[in-house]
Amino acid sequence: GDVFGCVADIGWITGHSYVVYGPLCNGGTSVLFESTPLYPDPGRYWETVQRLKINQFYGAPTAVRLLLKYGDKWVKKYDRSSLKMLGSVGEPINHEAWHWFYNVVGDSRCTLVDTWWQTETGGICISPRPSEEGAEIIPAMAMRPFFGIIPVLMDENGRVLEGNDVSGALCLAEPWPGMARTIYGNHQGFIDTYLKTYPGYYFTGDGAYRSSEGYYQITGRMDDVINISGHRLGTAEIEDALDEHPDVPETAVIGYPHEIKGEGAFAFIVLKEDVAHTKDVKEELRSIVASKIAKYAVPDHILVVKRLPKTRSGKIMRRVLKKIVTNQSSNLGDITTLDDPSVVTEILDAYQKYKMEQSASS
Ligand code: WTA
Repeated sequence: GDVFGCVADIGWITGHSYVVYGPLCNGGTSVLFESTPLYPDPGRYWETVQRLKINQFYGAPTAVRLLLKYGDKWVKKYDRSSLKMLGSVGEPINHEAWHWFYNVVGDSRCTLVDTWWQTETGGICISPRPSEEGAEIIPAMAMRPFFGIIPVLMDENGRVLEGNDVSGALCLAEPWPGMARTIYGNHQGFIDTYLKTYPGYYFTGDGAYRSSEGYYQITGRMDDVINISGHRLGTAEIEDALDEHPDVPETAVIGYPHEIKGEGAFAFIVLKEDVAHTKDVKEELRSIVASKIAKYAVPDHILVVKRLPKTRSGKIMRRVLKKIVTNQSSNLGDITTLDDPSVVTEILDAYQKYKMEQSASS
């Protein structure tokens, strides 16, 4: 009898599994959402919840971060009492977005699950639920392996990390239903990418932390790990700290070669529409990172942009930003999945202007 509202694009795996197969196999009603969360206004999701009496609402952190920027009034305008469960998928959800989703959208009453999985896994693999009724949920953490999923963390030498309070490469130790078995036309590519890095295990490409309680937190793609003066950091960690600033809805951090530190952090930030004091904001951002993580994690550069390069499913294409910063913008690679390719020239212009200002001031 449930009305399941997964607002993902149906062309994304989240749409296949959680708009079509999952809800329909379970005899539920599935909502098809076609549009953007801002059309005709930022209340569109919540108006849909009210009108269709949605019970489960499942979406991407990128949309939550976007809507948060428009304030609570668009949410509060609609009756959301039908909602029982909220879910997030696709990227690490930052703390600010998690709390807004939980408190404002879910009125601190609904269960909010951060669900980790991949196209290659077919369905959710790590998620706070199902679990015992009322079991603890830690904000912004996927936490518990799903039925039959055996997560394993590997160190740099390909050894299994035992015990808790450890970080490493996230692998799965046993196959599961829904597991991808090949890449169309490139079986060897499948073997090489997923099965050869850590023989005997499926390698997800993601990094994760197993907390002292034994819960999993996804720290981002392994490629997005940066090494600043010997400190290994996930870019998501720095982004999470930057996102705490009330005037900064979205950020993307990348590593770039740094003469002394090996790598440095470069932050791209989007500001709320009505923010004028960019200089103060940058200073505040630096002190947030210094106090939440450490001084060494503070980005050397903070560049304000209008928007970030994102795929149609809302993932930030950090590799495009990295190419821009390392002067390889003539060779951006495959950007066909970018939602709007014109964002590249927009950011490139902002970057060049920033560089010119920097050299003028030095
Ligand atoms: C990332 C989407 C952090 C991760 C279902 C993964 C996440 C990739 C989460 C798969 C999450 C997905 N927390 N990161 N809850 N969910 N990811 O194939 O890097 O579009 O490997 O599948 O998204 O993306 P895909």
